[in-house]
Amino acid sequence: MTTSPNPPKPSASIILGIESSCDDTAAAVLCDGKILANVAASQSVHEQYGGVVPELASRAHQSNIIPVIDQALKQAGISHQDLSAVAVTQGPGLMGSLLVGNNVAKGLCIANNLPLIGINHLQAHVAALFIDHEVALPMLCLLVSGGHTQLIWVEAIDKMEIIGSTQDDAAGEAFDKAAKLMGLGYPGGPMVDRLAKEGDIKKYAFPDAQTEGLNFSFSGIKTSLLYFLRDQQKANPQFLEQEIAHVCASYQQQIVASLMKRLKKAISQRRPASLGLSGGVSANSALRKAFQAMGAEQGLLAYIPDFAYCTDNAAMVAMAGYHRYMNGTFTALDETPFARAHHG
Ligand code: KG4
Ligand code: ZN
Repeated sequence: MTTSPNPPKPSASIILGIESSCDDTAAAVLCDGKILANVAASQSVHEQYGGVVPELASRAHQSNIIPVIDQALKQAGISHQDLSAVAVTQGPGLMGSLLVGNNVAKGLCIANNLPLIGINHLQAHVAALFIDHEVALPMLCLLVSGGHTQLIWVEAIDKMEIIGSTQDDAAGEAFDKAAKLMGLGYPGGPMVDRLAKEGDIKKYAFPDAQTEGLNFSFSGIKTSLLYFLRDQQKANPQFLEQEIAHVCASYQQQIVASLMKRLKKAISQRRPASLGLSGGVSANSALRKAFQAMGAEQGLLAYIPDFAYCTDNAAMVAMAGYHRYMNGTFTALDETPFARAHHG
């Protein structure tokens, strides 16, 4: 653990960010827009179930949250008294998980007389693109993770519009569910990615779903893999063992192609000044390559933040919070978290 050699000036705007919407417990400290600490504890308890178990996630958040916040403050070289505000992911996410982060954030605000800033998780993923980086606006952002698959039209860090969404599974789920069908661990994306490197992307064909407008759909491809594997294994019980790299490469290729098809359509409709990629699936090597190739083809800067800012993290929450702090738009202490994106 390191302690910041330059403790922030007393006049600085210091935001504590807290993220607990899914299975990562995270805290970050941002001083005048610069990250001083970014700490996360991920939860291995879900691996044996092949997916996040909400009640276990809440319990793990409960035991991790105070140590994670303390570590972030220590790394930044500050104490509670130095904070200007607390920003916390208010939703969407798992209710029990969100409640842990929100309640701790409120407690800190009451105890230290600080303003609370409730942040939308999707806006935070977009804010990640603004960390340590100048953004050419408007930007078209492709957000791909285990929970979201979205095309977001970004006019400013706090002004954006979702122009495409998945109608069913997220891209990360398509990777995770495929990995589960093939007996690979959870999360499955990194395993599929690794195996795909040894495989032929053209060996097998998986379907792209028909969708309206700029929307995505990934439940069909997962089902087609299920039936494909069942039929092949019936004919040859060693099929998966022999062909897993080719299956992973072909399947991954189709997910990337589905994402790129909608991205390209959105670029031609909206003419952005730059492209951004965010979310855990941005680690995928084939997706990164295709995304950068799309930028080059379209003559647009195609930006992918550090991986630590792409997966669920609190630095992005603090970054979104910093702008709200500067605008003075705060959240009342009696506001509650929301589980779904469209809350009334
Ligand atoms: O952003 P994230 O950490 O959490 C969510 O908000 O969901 O994203 C996790 C997702 C998982 O579905 C995981 O399988 C996927 O990101 N992922 C990948 C890769 N690394 C992580 N998917 C494909 N290829 C990868 N290399
Ligand atoms: Zn997320």
